[in-house]
Amino acid sequence: MTYVSNSASNSASNPVGLTGIEFTEFCGPSLEHLDSLFWSFGFSKLRRHPSKDISYFRQNDIHFLLNGERDGHSAQFARKHGPAISAMGWRVENAQAALTAAVARGAVAVADAMKDHAFPAVWGIGESIIYFIEPAANGQTIYERDFVALDSPLIQADKGFLAVDHLTNNVPPGEQDKWANFYKNIFGFTEVRYFDIQGAKTGLTSFALRSPDGSFCIPINQPKDDKDQIAEYLREYKGPGVQHLAFSTDDILSSLDQLEGSGIETLEIDDDYYAEVFERVQGVREDHARLQQHQVLIDGDEAGYLLQIFTKNIIGPIFIEIIQRANNLGFGEGNFGALFRSLEKDQERRGVI
Ligand SMILES: [Fe+2]
Repeated sequence: MTYVSNSASNSASNPVGLTGIEFTEFCGPSLEHLDSLFWSFGFSKLRRHPSKDISYFRQNDIHFLLNGERDGHSAQFARKHGPAISAMGWRVENAQAALTAAVARGAVAVADAMKDHAFPAVWGIGESIIYFIEPAANGQTIYERDFVALDSPLIQADKGFLAVDHLTNNVPPGEQDKWANFYKNIFGFTEVRYFDIQGAKTGLTSFALRSPDGSFCIPINQPKDDKDQIAEYLREYKGPGVQHLAFSTDDILSSLDQLEGSGIETLEIDDDYYAEVFERVQGVREDHARLQQHQVLIDGDEAGYLLQIFTKNIIGPIFIEIIQRANNLGFGEGNFGALFRSLEKDQERRGVI
């Protein structure tokens, strides 16, 4: 296969000229829950699509679209999956060139009739859509160009969430390689880590892939049996898809303080976790007592550490992670055991295992 680059930044290592995540699009049978959830997380509701029931929410460089159309892709997606992530917009230098490159490398273009937006697009995981978004002209954002201001925008101070650090996909047994190859071969993602996680009763394997521009990662989880959390997700979501989105913050304690009273629940961590974690991870500068009080998880190595916390499932089976990195590019591997046990306990309480 030969491919002639249409853009200076497109290359063998970055075939579609990817530069980051532009937006995440949500849908669901009822939007009220998502609307209030975004508000609880500190997003401002700013604009709307001029002719469709699609709202735009923003917090720093996290851009959410909430699609309440009764027809079209997101509507179909919501009918099948319930509350879900139906599409993402990925930033590229040149959207048409990105589409051409992606299709030449095996992606399937989405027909215009199937799309809720005019951007060029290919099919992603679980019948979700990946739109290619090029910069708007004259320094505008695509939201200023393509959406209109709400008469009464709902603006609030942000809660310190800066960007989507990573999103994780769940896939059925046997599909991990297929989806890893999808991201590698079409978009130039590279594998940065491989995990084999064993809980007390269940387990999973995970590949972590990094985008060719380095701006975000996509770990891909595959269950080892039909009872673990990944298998449960696949049953509830009715197929593969996004398991969680991770928001980055520079100050997780401040962000968590600001989430107090919001009703957003996080996973419960064993008390004995904190008896040893500050031995295992040295040099954590944040207040240790406050980290324990908020039940923040800690991981790291000689070079640095990360702080992370996970909500319970809050968008159907999808949850949110909050992550603060201090010179550490991992995903909290040292916490997977504790996390897995916490999720197993929750599954046990619910009678799943
Ligand atoms: Fe994560």
